[in-house]
Amino acid sequence: MKRILVTGALGQIGSELTLRLRDIYGASNVMATDIRQNSSEAAQSGPFEVVDVTDFKQMMETAKKYQADTIMHLAAILSASAEAMPVFAWNLNMGGLLNALETARELKAQFFTPSSIGAFGPTTPKDNTPQDTIMRPTTMYGVNKVAGELLADYYFNKYGVDTRGLRFSGIISYVAQPGGGTTDYAVEIYYKAVQERKYTSYIAKGTFMDMMYMPDALNAIIDLMEADSCRLIHRNSFNVTAMSFDPEGIAASIRRYIPDFKLDYDVDPSRQRIAESWPNSIDATAARQEWGFKYEYDLDKMTEDMIDKLRQKLRLEVPKL
Ligand SMILES: NC(=O)c1ccc[n+]([C@@H]2O[C@H](COP(=O)([O-])OP(=O)(O)OC[C@H]3O[C@@H](n4cnc5c(N)ncnc54)[C@H](O)[C@@H]3O)[C@@H](O)[C@H]2O)c1
Repeated sequence: MKRILVTGALGQIGSELTLRLRDIYGASNVMATDIRQNSSEAAQSGPFEVVDVTDFKQMMETAKKYQADTIMHLAAILSASAEAMPVFAWNLNMGGLLNALETARELKAQFFTPSSIGAFGPTTPKDNTPQDTIMRPTTMYGVNKVAGELLADYYFNKYGVDTRGLRFSGIISYVAQPGGGTTDYAVEIYYKAVQERKYTSYIAKGTFMDMMYMPDALNAIIDLMEADSCRLIHRNSFNVTAMSFDPEGIAASIRRYIPDFKLDYDVDPSRQRIAESWPNSIDATAARQEWGFKYEYDLDKMTEDMIDKLRQKLRLEVPKL
């Protein structure tokens, strides 16, 4: 990776990945693009252009002008929002991906895009879900992600594009707000915990999903992209996860630092249905074996860091207990 073009760079993952890549590869070597512009560090700390990923000409011209040798394609609509706008989701998630893959093919660029635990479905084994298993998702987002994994494999097998991908679990972070996923509750709960010491969960008690803290997710992307291609058997996409919990589990972790934190429930049937169709926990053995995946943050370590960083971000006093 020397000259990297990132799509969807102002989203939850992109706004931190762009900064990490600029630290490693040099600010001028990471071109951030998004359909919108804002005053975030990702948009200000290096080259930035407005690019709509559904516009092939615009994407190709930007990548050519920039002489990109790596495309990191993050622009997408996430699970809960996609379920509300399925046709729009198909056009953005599949059309954008096809354009990004075509750009990588023409420029002979290395390619990364994230898949998701949303690629699994209700008939997938729920616990310790294997890397290779039944994938019959029942959401538009899941359909897009499975098709996307297959399409990225196709571009590797047919055209030799060096495609790589990760099946991310819910990503928890404090820099940019999450963009309409089912696991967003696990970010919101920290904001509410430090601001109000209470949270009403739209996900029901007992619903377990995989999660990962942003620093580990960024390391996983970089480690996978830097891995020796010959070692990769599963290119698109590797199961990666650091923890699995339900709302009670994350609340218990928060109470270690905010003892009077209160959790109640007002379950959203639509997002609950999506969550129930996903695994409780996935198996990341293939990622460990093929490119050395590891993580640093378990639930309590993440909770400590999230609370600390959010108090700084929101400029809140540490309460006297
Ligand atoms: N965040 C998670 O928990 C998570 C988990 C699994 C997989 N993923 C995947 O990671 C990728 C990035 O997710 P995220 O959480 O950063 O998403 P996000 O919603 O926070 O960001 C997506 C970005 O894409 C941009 N975008 C939307 N339409 C666009 C278009 N037509 N052209 C260009 N940009 C456009 C948005 O402006 C936004 O900045 C997605 O593929 C997502 O499915 C995310």
